Amino acid sequence: SGADKLDYVKSKIGEYVDFPKKGIVFRDIFGALTDGKACVYLRDLLAHHIRITCPDVELIVGLDSRGFLFNLLLATELGTGCAAIRKKGKLAGEVVAVEYQLEYGSDTFELQRSAIKPGQRVVIVDDLLATGGSLLAATALVRKVGGVVLECLVVMELLGLEGRKKLDCNVHALIKY
Ligand code: PRP
Ligand code: ADE
Repeated sequence: SGADKLDYVKSKIGEYVDFPKKGIVFRDIFGALTDGKACVYLRDLLAHHIRITCPDVELIVGLDSRGFLFNLLLATELGTGCAAIRKKGKLAGEVVAVEYQLEYGSDTFELQRSAIKPGQRVVIVDDLLATGGSLLAATALVRKVGGVVLECLVVMELLGLEGRKKLDCNVHALIKY
């Protein structure tokens, strides 16, 4: 069942105390991805969720870098295209850019203007929602180029940071801490 698959994936996610800084509990998606069964279950759980909530999705957008583990995977499963939001200076051609806040400091995300057609229906994927700064910037970029954000979908959400409150779109997490 879905609940059994979710429990299995959860059991494989790594937990590292005080990484990368003291006081942070790092939730490591790569702990699950080295397990073949967890990979298949993750794909099934994420694709099943999108088929139910966003059956008319046209494009899966992944965030640099751990979101790239899921955008192509889900695009091939659902028959959509996929696109990449990248940290600044990596994408060719005309790009839109948004600065965003992390727990300490800031960074800039970019998206190619040609990646999304006006009105295209988009699901944004990433491994984890923490403060919400990354997904907030991602939704702004998708909208800047005319895309419609149906949902932000993550494997994990850190509830204590209340990142979801920053976002003005549907948000779904498979696993909550
Ligand atoms: C991590 C994670 C999310 C983001 C979540 O990425 O993969 O993208 O932080 O944090 P937030 O909700 O507070 O914005 P990171 O910036 O560490 O980059 P990486 O994926 O390249 O490791
Ligand atoms: N990105 C931001 N916070 C994180 C955490 N606690 N674990 C893994 N990735 C993160």
